[in-house]
Amino acid sequence: MSSLTSREVHLISRPEGIPVPDNFTMVEVEVPPPEKGEVLVKNIYMSVDPAMRPPMTNGQTKLNSVMGAGAIGMVLESNNDRFEEGTHVQHRSGFREYFVSDGSDLQVVKTQGEAVSTHLHILGGTGLTAYGGLLVTGQLKDAETVFVSAAAGAVGSIVGQIAKIKNCRVVGSCGSDEKVAYLLDELGFDYAFNYKTTSIRRELHIGCPDGIDVYFENVGGDHLDAAVGQMRPLGRIPVCGMISAYHSKGARSEGVTSLANMVYNRVTMRGFVATEFYDIRDQFLADMRKWMSEGKLKYTETILEGIERAPDALIGLFTGLNTGKMLVRLADDV
Ligand SMILES: NC(=O)c1ccc[n+]([C@@H]2O[C@H](COP(=O)([O-])OP(=O)(O)OC[C@H]3O[C@@H](n4cnc5c(N)ncnc54)[C@H](OP(=O)(O)O)[C@@H]3O)[C@@H](O)[C@H]2O)c1
Repeated sequence: MSSLTSREVHLISRPEGIPVPDNFTMVEVEVPPPEKGEVLVKNIYMSVDPAMRPPMTNGQTKLNSVMGAGAIGMVLESNNDRFEEGTHVQHRSGFREYFVSDGSDLQVVKTQGEAVSTHLHILGGTGLTAYGGLLVTGQLKDAETVFVSAAAGAVGSIVGQIAKIKNCRVVGSCGSDEKVAYLLDELGFDYAFNYKTTSIRRELHIGCPDGIDVYFENVGGDHLDAAVGQMRPLGRIPVCGMISAYHSKGARSEGVTSLANMVYNRVTMRGFVATEFYDIRDQFLADMRKWMSEGKLKYTETILEGIERAPDALIGLFTGLNTGKMLVRLADDV
C-alpha cells in the first residue's frame, strides 16, 4: 500500500477553564507504508478521559503536536509476525485516524463475543478503576451505604452497579434530571439527585439517613465537603478523581471544611490509580463478564462520530454531555 493521509488533533493553545473548540485544530499528515517489523493501524474507537485536562494546563500536553488517548484500532497491513491483519489492538495513539507502529505499544484485544468498544470502558481501565477502587481501596462490605459522585458517568455508573450487586444502598449525584432518572430507573440506584439544582448536604441527609460507609470520590470540592461530614464510623473514601478541580492550576480543589468528622468517626481516605489493580485483572474480567451475562451489570456509551468531534468529546466531559462512557468513533469496524 502507498502512503495515506491521516487527520489528527493538536492542542494549539492552553485552555482557561473548560476547554473550547478554538484550543484545538485538525492537521493532515502523510502516513508512510509500514516497513519490515511494522504495522499500519486504522483507529476505530478512541476514549477521552477527564485526566487529560490537567496536563493541558501544566504543559505535559505539548502544543502543536498530536494528542494522546487510549484507543482501539484494527491492523490494516502487517509486516510483523505478532499481528495478523484484521486484529484489534489497544494503544495510547488516539486523536488520529491512522498510524504506523513497530508493535511495542500495541496490545491485542481478546474479545469473548462482547463489543470491542467495551475494552475501552467496562472491561478496560474504567471498569478496573470502579472495581478495584470500590472493592480493594474502598473495602466495600455487603449491605453498606455507598455514595458515588459523577454517578452517571463511565466510572460512577459501574461503581453504583457493583455496589448494588453487593447488596448495598446506593446513592448517586449527577448533573441533570435525565441522569437522575437514568440512575434510578435503569441502573437501580436507591436514591439520586441533581447537584446543580439542590443542596448536596441536604440530599445526603435524605439519601443516607444513617450516614455513608463508602464515598467513592470522583468530583472533590463541595461534594467531598458534604460527604466527609456524613461519613459513618470507620467509613472509607477511595479517592478516584477530582473533576471539579481539573481546570485550576495544579488541579487545586476547593476547600473542605468538614475534616474533623474524619477524626470523630475514624474515617480513612485513600487515593488510588487503576494500575494498582493489574494483579487482580483476571478476577475482575471474570466477575464483570459473569455479572454482564446475568444482566446485573449494564453499560451505556455516548458516541460522537468522526475525528472532527474528538475535541467536542473531551470538552463534553466537563459539561456533562455524556451518560456512561464518552467515546469517539473514528471509522467502521471493517
Ligand atoms: N484513579 C484512576 O485511576 C482513575 C481512572 C479513571 C478515571 N478517574 C477519575 O474518575 C472520575 C470519572 O471519570 P470518568 O472517565 O468516568 O468520566 P465521566 O464520569 O464519564 O465524565 C465526567 C463527568 O463528570 C461530571 N462533571 C464534570 N464536571 C463536573 C463538576 N465540576 N462537578 C461535578 N461533576 C462534574 C459530568 O457529569 P454530570 O452531568 O453529572 O455533571 C461528566 O459527565 C474523574 O475524576 C476521573 O479523573 C480516575
